Amino acid sequence: MRTALNALTDELRRLKTAGVRTVAVSDESVALLRRVIAARKPAPAPVAAAAPVSRLEPAPATFAEAAPPKPYAPPAPVVVPKPAPKPTLPPPPVVTLAAGDKQARWNALLELVRNDTTCRAHVGPGKKVVLGVGSVDAKIMFVGEAPGAEEEIQGEPFVGPAGQLLTKMIQAMGLKRAEVYIGNIMNWRPEMPTPPGMAQVGNRPPTEEEMRYCLPYLRAQIEIVNPDILVAVGGTAAQGLLGFGSFRVLGDVRGKWHEFAGKPLMVTYHPSYLLRPPVDNRKKRLVWDDLLKVMERAALPISDKQRGYFLDK
Ligand code: URA
Repeated sequence: MRTALNALTDELRRLKTAGVRTVAVSDESVALLRRVIAARKPAPAPVAAAAPVSRLEPAPATFAEAAPPKPYAPPAPVVVPKPAPKPTLPPPPVVTLAAGDKQARWNALLELVRNDTTCRAHVGPGKKVVLGVGSVDAKIMFVGEAPGAEEEIQGEPFVGPAGQLLTKMIQAMGLKRAEVYIGNIMNWRPEMPTPPGMAQVGNRPPTEEEMRYCLPYLRAQIEIVNPDILVAVGGTAAQGLLGFGSFRVLGDVRGKWHEFAGKPLMVTYHPSYLLRPPVDNRKKRLVWDDLLKVMERAALPISDKQRGYFLDK
C-alpha cells in the first residue's frame, strides 16, 4: 500500500511539473486514499489541557471564520557565488626598461613585446603583435582598445577605418599623427571563434585578464614617452586605465580629467562610435569638446574656427 501511495505521489508531482493543475479523482479513490492516510498517521499525542476559552474572542466556528492564511512568502533566493574565471594567461610580464635614450628604450621594448611568447601565441600566422606608434617625444598619448584586422596585418595601431578617423581628429587639433603617440591597451587582436582556415570576422573587447596581461607594456610606453597628457578613446581603454568595472557607462567618465600613471587622463568616445549610425555632428561635438579640453591643457593654440567645429546640427 505504501509503495502504491509513493507511486501516486510521484505521479502527481510529475503532472504538477508538467503544468497540470487539476486531476479528476473518483469517490472510491478518495475513500481509499483516506483509509491509507489514516493508517499511516501516528497515534495522536496526548491532548494538553484545553486553554480557557475567552468570552470576548470565541473560537471560529467554521473554517471561513478562521484567521486568514499567511500570504505566501517565496523562499529567499539562494545566491551561489560565481566561481572566479580560471586564468588562461600567465601572470603579467614584469617589464624592465633597457638603458639608453628614449628611442633605444622604445626599440628594446618593441623587441620584448614581439618576442613575448604569450602575445605571439595569440597572433595567427602572418599576423603581428602590435605596440604603439608615433613620436617618443609626444606631449599627447592616445590609448585605444586593441588591434583589429588591419592593425594586426600592418603591426601598427589605428590604421583601419577608426584609425583614419582618429588621424583626422588629431589633424583637427592642429597636429600631425606623427607628432603624437598612439598605443593600445592590448598588443594582440582578441580572438573570436573562427572556423579553421577562415579569417576572423569582427572584433571583441578584451577580457579583464587580457588587459591585465598587456598593461605593463602600455605602462612601459608611458614611462618612455613621458607624455603630458593621456587620452583614452573608448570604454575599453577607459576600463583598462581607470579600473575594470570602475564606471557604469562611458558617459559617466568622459569629458572629465582623471589620472593614470601620474598623468592627467582625458576620457572620450572611440572613433568607431562616431562611425556608427547615426553619424551626426552632435556625437562629433561631444568628442570635440573633450579634445578642446586636451588642447587647452596642452596649451595648443585654438582658433575661433576650431572652437566652433561641429556646432551645427
Ligand atoms: N581600435 C583600437 O582601439 N585600436 C586600434 O588599434 C584599432 C582600432
